[in-house]
Amino acid sequence: MTKDVDLGKFLTQEQHRVHLIGVAGSGMSGIAGLLLQLGHDVSGSDKLDSTETRRLERLGLKFYQQHRSEYAADAELIIYSSAIKLENPILKNARESGKRAVRRAQALAAIMSGKRSILVVGMHGKTTTSAMTAHVLREGGLHPSHYVGAEIPILGTNAHWDARGEYFVAEGDESDGTIALFHPEHALVLNIEEEHLDFYADLAAIEKTFDQLLGQTSGKVFFCADDPHAARICRSLDRAICYGLSENADYRAAEIKPGNFASSFSVCHDKEKIGEAVLNVPGEHNVRNALGVIALATELGVPFEKIAKALTKFQHARRRFEIKYDSPRFLLVDDYGHHPTEIKATIKTARSVGRKRVLTMFQPHRYSRTKLLRKEFGLAFDQADRVVITDIYGSNEAPIPGVSGQMIADEIAAHGHRGVSYQPRLEWAHRDVGNMLDSGDLVLSLGAGNIHEQLSILAADLVIAEKIKEIVGEDGDVRLYEPLSKHTTLRVGGPAQFWVEPRNEKAFSELIRFSRRENLPLFVIGRGSNLLVRDGGLRGVVAHPSGSDFDKIDIHGNEIAAGVGAKLKEIAYAARAANLGGLEWMEGVPAVVGGALRMNAGAMGCQTFDHVASVRYLDREGNAHTKRRDELEVHYRDFPLLKENFAVSATFRATPAAREQIETKLHESQEKRRTTQPIAKSAGCIFKNPASCPAGKLVDELGLKNSAVGKARVSEVHGNFIVNEGGATAADVLELIDQIKKEAKAKRGIELETEVQIVGELA
Ligand code: EPU
Repeated sequence: MTKDVDLGKFLTQEQHRVHLIGVAGSGMSGIAGLLLQLGHDVSGSDKLDSTETRRLERLGLKFYQQHRSEYAADAELIIYSSAIKLENPILKNARESGKRAVRRAQALAAIMSGKRSILVVGMHGKTTTSAMTAHVLREGGLHPSHYVGAEIPILGTNAHWDARGEYFVAEGDESDGTIALFHPEHALVLNIEEEHLDFYADLAAIEKTFDQLLGQTSGKVFFCADDPHAARICRSLDRAICYGLSENADYRAAEIKPGNFASSFSVCHDKEKIGEAVLNVPGEHNVRNALGVIALATELGVPFEKIAKALTKFQHARRRFEIKYDSPRFLLVDDYGHHPTEIKATIKTARSVGRKRVLTMFQPHRYSRTKLLRKEFGLAFDQADRVVITDIYGSNEAPIPGVSGQMIADEIAAHGHRGVSYQPRLEWAHRDVGNMLDSGDLVLSLGAGNIHEQLSILAADLVIAEKIKEIVGEDGDVRLYEPLSKHTTLRVGGPAQFWVEPRNEKAFSELIRFSRRENLPLFVIGRGSNLLVRDGGLRGVVAHPSGSDFDKIDIHGNEIAAGVGAKLKEIAYAARAANLGGLEWMEGVPAVVGGALRMNAGAMGCQTFDHVASVRYLDREGNAHTKRRDELEVHYRDFPLLKENFAVSATFRATPAAREQIETKLHESQEKRRTTQPIAKSAGCIFKNPASCPAGKLVDELGLKNSAVGKARVSEVHGNFIVNEGGATAADVLELIDQIKKEAKAKRGIELETEVQIVGELA
């Protein structure tokens, strides 16, 4: 295509009515901004509105959230995004009525023809480098206009027309071949490699497009000498200037010192040192990008001191190694990288920051790229300790059968990486990574889709988790998204948003106050033996008071004082050691004191409160109280006080007995359990015993033993137990409970009431 002089004049020297289809897109909104600044009457349509369209509306854009041909009836020119299909009513109408309709790149090329244009091209680093170029030229006093593909805080907006300056800096988009539409004065070529293979047949086709652009470039071609493809294509051109770390580069960086999110280096021109530069964006690849900018600005006459000063001030575009959370224990970084080369470079940068481990979550972008670059993706994560791959962000592509995130996870594993997993539900990615977190970790979210939202959720929860950590201190434990299947005897249940193990009463009490202040639900788990947590897990704080004071058992005369974390079994043994009887039944109950109190657990015809002398608990304000047994209201499998309060410890009363007698009773309990209860994973008895008939007997008589839903099955040994055969879900168990209840009601008229506590959200 030849240079479109008429369109250039139409757009930069005259004023017209122009309509943009797909105006909310990051590229299209930039064009709309430029047209408004050039004095045109601009309208635009998009199915979505955005902060950008709202900003542009304030500047005069007429925005329509629908594509209707009448909205563009008056327009003299239509500009459309590559994402717009031919059947779009505005585009269709324009074509049928012979109205001029041009693509985004064509409009941009025409606008740029009104200035001395500089085009930044390459597969990786364009947005950063074009923004850096515009910033350096601006600081150098050249008043450049610019157009870059993302919002750049330091530049103010993604596009700007400055009538005072001669230059126009733009980011060229090679993805659809439209860089061949440009006739820039200067070009800055960052790198060339296989990418966008949905559009290009192969590397040769990509190189051909670049060749054409360079043939249309009237001034200088700046290229990176360290990139083999860029170097091969550009080296032989007259007016070519190369930069890089290579010895033979015209502009070269030496003595690179990587810092925390920054680099400093010396710059040589034709082997002569011209000065020192400090760049406040991390990574060796950005040192190269900065060198390209230094070369270009120097050749345009900006003094090195001004360039260096501007570089120190330069700040990144959003989503380019963007720090989302930074504390001494954790660092969360988001990056737009979605091509294997970018991923490798970004992980390398993350490594160089000096934290202990690098955990990544990657959302592949486009089915076509995933399929074509699967091998390269397999090699890109070597330097990450853990990798969570989500499903693909399709962009505007339709799925390709058999192509999913699993494909990349498999390639990474096949390459020998041991820390890779696949999470098909994007909204759970933050949980997987969050649960792996350990002090000293850097978390990196990667991808051009919406994975950054997952990192934001993680960052928000981490703020709270760190505050809780301060409360529970060094010896307390805080974990995010801890799977409760690990903490229930039935081995089912989704994650706890904040899993907290306080080690003493003071920490527990402060945790209660904190949860109340922050409006976080607080749930306490002991051994998780009579508990069924739904598959969506528990929101808020799940406290597990354990260790230290909470596990203590002390004997004073006939009384045994125990913390809520102490196991009933241990109490039975401690009593035996002190020749105290009456508590033998505790041997067979898989609970800790807290759980046993909360549900007045029992076995062998005894129950917890038969032996309780006093209970110490914290109220909802975190204040401690101690109550004697006679002050407490207690029922069969129910102790209402602990519905709103939190037990800390209890004192049990026992009776001196002969050792032999104690041994006999312990043995009886063991035998009863061994012969009548299953050993498989279960939540203990599911139902309370109705007055008319023990629940186990009832289920047995109904013939429901052995019935199953998924991997949950009614035990053959005891009808009141549901066992997890491995991999059962809470949904399976709940469905089975429901079936039993319905049968009991229909056949025997008995309303079974669950004894297990059922909590949590649906998945
Ligand atoms: N039975 C059957 N078929 C069965 C199960 C039981 O016919 O499949 C009969 C038994 O033969 C017995 C009666 O039902 O005649 C009661 O059974 P069991 O003696 O096993 O006691 P349970 O009432 O089912 C209670 C507690 C258990 C505790 C045992 C042992 C309840 C709901 N359950 O069971 O506690 O371990 O006594 O003392 O009170 C728990 O609460 O989680 C728990 C396991």
